[in-house]
Amino acid sequence: MKLILLLLCTILEVPLAMTVHIQFMAVELRSISTPAAMESAPGLGRMKCAELCSVRPACFGFSWLQGLCRLFDWLAFSSTDGWQFSESCDVYARIDDSQPPTQLKLESCSQSSTYGSNVCGRAIDGNRNQKYGAGSCAHTGIKPFEWWEGQLAAPSLVSYVTIYNRQDCCAERLNKFSLQVDGVECNRVSLTVPFSVANFSCNAFGSRV
Ligand SMILES: *[C@@H]1O[C@H](CO)[C@@H](O)[C@H](O)[C@H]1NC(C)=O
Repeated sequence: MKLILLLLCTILEVPLAMTVHIQFMAVELRSISTPAAMESAPGLGRMKCAELCSVRPACFGFSWLQGLCRLFDWLAFSSTDGWQFSESCDVYARIDDSQPPTQLKLESCSQSSTYGSNVCGRAIDGNRNQKYGAGSCAHTGIKPFEWWEGQLAAPSLVSYVTIYNRQDCCAERLNKFSLQVDGVECNRVSLTVPFSVANFSCNAFGSRV
């Protein structure tokens, strides 16, 4: 079963202490498959189930069906192969805002076409020079619907993506694009003012960005 990320469909917030909030994002509503259960707890409401998960360090998410709360660890979300048939229930994954985000590395890449020698790898060569002539920017061809994609070492929760845009000219060429994780759109960007460096929120789980 494919993990379909329904961004911003539902976010549950569990206030733990005065200042700590743990959020859960719905990854599948009315799913008929769920990750292998770590533990089941009968007779809890959705909020109680979220609370139970939030106080357990290894708990990365839960599924909830009226009268049945099931908790999952991180591994349950790293591959959807292990998802099992279940009664239709809502599946939530944890978004832990209390920890600073880990910077994820894109290991390999591809792009729809290449303009000159500006291969996709120039976008992830670690050189943030934003001048095209410096030779560290990737450049696709100029047809509509061109794309660039990178691969993470392991499936991860992608909170946001930072993009360094070309600055010697033409920054407006990147005003409209669809940001996707594993082929599912997590943000549709449409800007009126071109950006230089910007974070684009995503909050999706997967490995292909
Ligand atoms: C992107 O977000 C990170 C973490 O919040 C922040 O440190 C960084 O300054 C942001 N970058 C931009 C361009 O807003």
